[in-house]
Amino acid sequence: ENDATVSIIVVGTSGDLAKKKIFPALFALFYEDCLPEVRKISSFFIRKSYAILGSGFSSLSSIYFVPGRSSDIFPCVFQHFTVYGYARSKMTDAEFRNMVSETLTCRIDKRVNCVEKIDQFLTRCFYHSGQYDSMQSFVELDKKMKHHEDGRFSNRLFYLSIPPNIFIDAVRCASMSASSGNGWTRVIVEKPFGRDSELSAALTKSLKLYLEEDQIFRIDHYLGKELVENLSVLRFSNLIFEPLWSRQYIRNVQMIFSEDFGTEGRGGYFDNYGIIRDIMQNHLLQILALFAMETPVSLDAEDIRNEKVKVLRSMRPLTLDDVVIGQYKSHTKGGMSFPAYTDDKTVPKGSLTPTFAAAALFIDNSRWDGVPFLMKAGKALHNKKAEIRVQFRHVPGNLYNRNLGTDLDRATNELVIRVQPDEAIYLKINNKVPGLGMRLDRSKLNLHYAARYSKEIPDAYERLLLDAIGGERRLFIRSDELDAAWTLFTPLLKELEEKKITPECYPYGSRGPVGAHYLAARYNVRWGDLGADQ
Ligand code: BG6
Repeated sequence: ENDATVSIIVVGTSGDLAKKKIFPALFALFYEDCLPEVRKISSFFIRKSYAILGSGFSSLSSIYFVPGRSSDIFPCVFQHFTVYGYARSKMTDAEFRNMVSETLTCRIDKRVNCVEKIDQFLTRCFYHSGQYDSMQSFVELDKKMKHHEDGRFSNRLFYLSIPPNIFIDAVRCASMSASSGNGWTRVIVEKPFGRDSELSAALTKSLKLYLEEDQIFRIDHYLGKELVENLSVLRFSNLIFEPLWSRQYIRNVQMIFSEDFGTEGRGGYFDNYGIIRDIMQNHLLQILALFAMETPVSLDAEDIRNEKVKVLRSMRPLTLDDVVIGQYKSHTKGGMSFPAYTDDKTVPKGSLTPTFAAAALFIDNSRWDGVPFLMKAGKALHNKKAEIRVQFRHVPGNLYNRNLGTDLDRATNELVIRVQPDEAIYLKINNKVPGLGMRLDRSKLNLHYAARYSKEIPDAYERLLLDAIGGERRLFIRSDELDAAWTLFTPLLKELEEKKITPECYPYGSRGPVGAHYLAARYNVRWGDLGADQ
């Protein structure tokens, strides 16, 4: 057991995700000594060891632990780890290493010893060419892995970075021909997890023909973002927030995602899904669930996921009345012209796919009854940002109403969690402007990460890969969570498609369709990101 190995097989190596995120994240973990650290395994690290017999994947788990990443030091016990690229194109190991080395432009690349570390990392990278549905190719991959494992205790992590139509074939072949014989085998899957409730359920059913639920790691990379993970810390370990976390003090909550570029090059994928499936049903809804859940019994993955499922199941499915959809059109600004969504060659002419959506959601439980949770997500907007805004109620009988001016809405407290860029948490308060008079203004109590912490913030994929290797499931989506998430959005998505609802146009680089303001106004809300003092 001292001699355990872990093999990370990136299935779909030549794709964008592998190049932009997976290899750089693996290298960053290697650089930080999270992967290959040689440590003695004490019995303390032997947390559980069980075998699920008779299932496709052998699931003997697990000879080490990462106890919920409770400290900065990870007891990584793998003396040996190996990365395999798996794709259809033919490539030698040397060519693969060359390709990987070009992707390693991550947060680490300016550090000391980087070149040396890159070389060490690359010697652990191998390539295997094969079809995704070929049992034979996976048998050969298995042979290659066994050769490198050299009789040691072996653990295998498959990262499926491939389109959903070949998911199941790859899982079947991997499970039957390349699962570990004496260690664990886990599979990371990326969204889209289906297009609606039925397709998602069918996908889960097929995956479970070959995998146990605890082998499936459904990734939502927003859960790996530093400030999203911090949400629970903020709320549950500070006395001042938790008592305010309810309809009694919170007027509305806003989850906002915007990108300042269009679908450039990804139109083919995007057109089949649209912004609601791409961002809202997963990233923003996950944030909402973490934000609104009740206190979990413990920080164990199952306890947290149980609470997330409960809150999702307390929500009302969306209807057409609760949403506004938009699509960007071309725009010329400062002599530069920006394309319309439908100018993208990979997008069908006349497509009605939304690139923007705003929605109002409600949680019918005693904590949140009547509080609007507003979501807004869009591409080709005026900025790139992801944030959570919590607007508090007015101070009853405020003595200072006279000094606050007429815009009392603006004068209420607002807590902003800026997930990206330039991570920050700030609280907007009313404050006296220094001087002999009594004038109030809005100021910020500001925790600006770059100013407070010298440490760089790791990429979400680093955290998630480390967790998957450590068997920590807290930041991955369980199948019942996924079902609950689809239940909320499926009727709306069907109605939008069946009724061929035309999205409202908005110019590339603008703040999105005006309909979003009317939607918010209907619930007495003003979007917090649009004010002058945001
Ligand atoms: C992905 C979406 O899940 O998230 C993309 O499919 C989007 O459309 C991306 O651009 C945004 O991720 P990030 O981490 O850059 O905010």
